[in-house]
Amino acid sequence: MQLLDGKKVSQAVKLELKGQVAALIDSNKRAPHLAAILVGSNGASETYVASKIKNCEEIGFKSSLFRFSENVEENELLETIKKLNVDESIDGILVQLPLPKHIKESSVINLINPNKDVDGFHPVSTGKMTLGLPSFIPATPYGIMLMLEHYNIETSGKNAVVIGRSNIVGRPMSILLSQDREYGNCTVTVCHSRTKNLKEKCLEADIVIAALGKPGFLTADMVKENAVVIDVGITRVADQTKKTGFSIKGDVDFENVASKCSFITPVPGGVGLMTIAALLKNTYEAYLTHLK
Ligand code: GUN
Repeated sequence: MQLLDGKKVSQAVKLELKGQVAALIDSNKRAPHLAAILVGSNGASETYVASKIKNCEEIGFKSSLFRFSENVEENELLETIKKLNVDESIDGILVQLPLPKHIKESSVINLINPNKDVDGFHPVSTGKMTLGLPSFIPATPYGIMLMLEHYNIETSGKNAVVIGRSNIVGRPMSILLSQDREYGNCTVTVCHSRTKNLKEKCLEADIVIAALGKPGFLTADMVKENAVVIDVGITRVADQTKKTGFSIKGDVDFENVASKCSFITPVPGGVGLMTIAALLKNTYEAYLTHLK
């Protein structure tokens, strides 16, 4: 069993970006600039956004955080996005999800300038990605593709099972893996809450992507020998032994599944770190198109 080390791979991605930014600054160009919008005070969202901003700083990107209270009016958010859309100093805009119930997520996301849609959630990005055209790819699936590439994992002709059909992870992941592309060409089965015989489907999978948000859901009896297992789960579970009062659990019962796998991602230290690296790559790509 080999661990797919998100720390190592994300650091390699960030180091490359850091060098590219340093070279641009040396030639008197401005730094890439990410704008992050955070609504409310959801603990997990706070942590993710803080980490995104810290990572920007580490590699020489500029970042701006726009915070709003839980009961902000939708219109105020929309007005902020309109301003950021036309602000030439901003390359990427991300709105941390989930948003409070009274705000329609699609109204907010669909307003983002597709040229600054570094989360890849806008319908224009989704459409282009689905057609195999150059586009921003949502950060988590993109990060997983970078991981497969780094470890040169054979995907062509393999059976992949994606558990979860969210717009952020499961759906785009299933599209990417099925495409005629490097680290694609899988036969993909998308499983979800209505799927029957999930265990049998997983047992046929050479690659399993667990992205349903249920800690420890994928157990050893559901995994074929030598499978590649990618764990997207990052659920906070109460843990009094930790200072924070919680620990982060993946969707995979790592302790019992790991020994059966050819490759497996740990949680933490796996996909989560790759998500941030992929967001930074998208922001850099956006920046390059804005420089022209
Ligand atoms: N919420 C959970 N994952 C993500 C993500 O990748 N981007 C944003 N903006 N919000 C999220």
